Amino acid sequence: MGKYLVFLGALVLLTTSIKAQDIISLPSPSFKGKISVEEAIKARRTNRDFGTSPLNLNQLSQILWAAYGITGKDGFKKSVPSAGALYPMDIIIVVGKKAVIGLKEGVYLYNSSSHALIRIKNGDKRKDLAKACLYQMWIAEAPVVIVMIGVYERCTKKYGKRGVRYTHIEAGHIGQNIFLQTEALGLKAGIVGAFSDEEIKKILNVKQGIPLLVMPIGHP
Ligand SMILES: Cc1cc2nc3c(=O)[nH]c(=O)nc-3n(C[C@H](O)[C@H](O)[C@H](O)COP(=O)(O)O)c2cc1C
Repeated sequence: MGKYLVFLGALVLLTTSIKAQDIISLPSPSFKGKISVEEAIKARRTNRDFGTSPLNLNQLSQILWAAYGITGKDGFKKSVPSAGALYPMDIIIVVGKKAVIGLKEGVYLYNSSSHALIRIKNGDKRKDLAKACLYQMWIAEAPVVIVMIGVYERCTKKYGKRGVRYTHIEAGHIGQNIFLQTEALGLKAGIVGAFSDEEIKKILNVKQGIPLLVMPIGHP
């Protein structure tokens, strides 16, 4: 297959050529869950001990949709509120070897508008990531680790310095959605703020933005 010119919204690169095999469409999310919002809120806890079973693509799709997926009829607005609907976050996932059925180990960028993953790096980078999180090695046991990258410029260009605050607030919204969605799927999430920004940027090939939160997800 040839190369595709993919529009990545206001992502790091405005246009980039990506090989077809590096684009992974995700299954459609479901809009019905097995537990109530109240039960999910009650059960939510930071998990630091993950089981070895892999996730499946439906579970991953559901969690990414809850995190930053499109929910608006306009095909633009997302699952979380965003100051000026500027959506300054990039959602990157680090996938372990044999950790998600049907998905190779690697680093992927979530593209909400097409509900797809774009591979940006090959290989299982979970241990490197755990080391970058001040050697919190439990992170490497989770099949998937979500990393939120705040690209402040998307927000500060309209709101000035206040855009930094708005980006941090958005990270909190995304984090809670990930927590509640994992609970609703019978899965668990952790949350990590202690890490080296520069090391994470290097591991993930991030050229623009700052890592704000790291969230390992998997089976309890
Ligand atoms: C911004 C932020 C950063 C955090 N960083 C870490 C971390 O680096 N390592 C860790 O084990 N837990 C971390 N936590 C989890 C907290 O320790 C946890 O949320 C708190 O103890 C309350 O427990 P609960 O989440 O289970 O209710 C962090 C939480 C937040 C909100």
